[in-house]
Amino acid sequence: MSETAKLTYDGKTYELPVVIGSENEKGIDISKLRSQSGLITLDDGYANTGSCQSEITYIDGEAGILRYRGIPIEQLAEQSDFVEVAYLVIFGELPTAEQLSEFRGLLTQHQFIHESMRNHFEGFLPDAPPMAILSAMINTLGCFQPALIEPEKDEHFMEASARLMSKVRTIAAASYKKSMGQAMVYPRFDVCYPCNFLHMMFSMPNRDYEPPQEAIRALDKFLILHADHEQNCSTSTVRMVGSSRANLYASVASAVCALWGPLHGGANVAVIDMLTRIRDRGEKLEKFIERVKEKDSSERLMGFGHRVYKNFDPRARILKDACHEVLNKLGVADSLLEIALQLEDVALHDEYFVERKLYPNVDFYSGIVLRALGVPVEMFTVMFAIGRMPGWIAQWREGHMNPRARICRPRQIYTGPTLREFVPIADRE
Ligand code: CMC
Repeated sequence: MSETAKLTYDGKTYELPVVIGSENEKGIDISKLRSQSGLITLDDGYANTGSCQSEITYIDGEAGILRYRGIPIEQLAEQSDFVEVAYLVIFGELPTAEQLSEFRGLLTQHQFIHESMRNHFEGFLPDAPPMAILSAMINTLGCFQPALIEPEKDEHFMEASARLMSKVRTIAAASYKKSMGQAMVYPRFDVCYPCNFLHMMFSMPNRDYEPPQEAIRALDKFLILHADHEQNCSTSTVRMVGSSRANLYASVASAVCALWGPLHGGANVAVIDMLTRIRDRGEKLEKFIERVKEKDSSERLMGFGHRVYKNFDPRARILKDACHEVLNKLGVADSLLEIALQLEDVALHDEYFVERKLYPNVDFYSGIVLRALGVPVEMFTVMFAIGRMPGWIAQWREGHMNPRARICRPRQIYTGPTLREFVPIADRE
């Protein structure tokens, strides 16, 4: 028998269905509440609101669990690669060898951007933020492939996904080259996805860059860990924009903007800024932590805390190990890692952080990995976006294909002035 919850208000009781997920998560279905009672629910920041049912990613924030399509993130980070994980996230199953080879082939086939898109780059100032360029260029991509902007059909969907994933990497590297005043580098046909990105970032017309295996593996891990994270701010943006039947490119371009902010994807930049400030000022870590804890402080311990994880973010654990590994293997010394490790230790033993269950999140260590690869800080959030592409594509598609889907249109409780008369300008005080 299906479960229900009861809500009593103003002498009447309403019975509300309880929806139970495959991992026994429970949610009260309030979709009929307003028509039955006139009441809506109010939930600032949607912290306690399920916006959809989804088969893509499972998180248990209390236990620190993250799985894509049921498979633990630790196994994927250790045993898989980004392209295979992207296939899993987008299409729902691990690919066979043949399917994987077809998908890799499509990624290679579609890695070039249309030559006339190069002109679009010329319109940006050299110091234009790469996230602004990325968002604008993704929207532009849609204009070049109008037949694929609404890829409902399965055969179109695979090509559209591959095109987007592949071209985003080319655009990202090109935006970096533009910011450096360097010539754009064409992608290669004979190297893997992360290697090709590093090639386009760091090769010069007269000198090919051959990234070390450790750098390729570290970047691949970084991308795997960012591939999806259920209904966060940018993913909810993809679903929100997509719910109006906006096309895949427009929806993903909006998500890039949502990711840009320092409380979301921009946190990896904010962490490095914070660690650099601490180092350059020679500030005592305990003193910095005291400042963070002050009521009304504008300072936060960036890279700490998470809306869902009330335990270690499993991605942070993997990246912390990856940091040590890549720095050791590449022989890079980074004073910021030392500060990060000490800061983590101070925070994890501080009552303020313990009480609020604030642990390191994915961004606490990701910037240090990217620095070791030579990726400049302005590109960090772009790197997050490249990694998140499979998740955005999968979530857009899931929303689009849901027969029960309706346009996202939340309600509000109005708190402004009640009815008043218009006053002509001459009579206003
Ligand atoms: N430093 C200091 N205090 C914090 C922090 C922090 N990083 N995070 C939360 N708190 C405090 C907050 O002040 C509040 O205290 P009080 O109860 O006394 O008012 C309490 O913890 C709960 O915080 P909240 O702001 O209500 O939590 P939230 O779920 O709304 O915000 C968050 C989550 C990630 C935005 C927040 O923890 C934060 O700003 N962290 C720093 C930015 C960051 O690292 N963001 C990356 C998130 S992971 C990657 C991604 O998903 O994009």
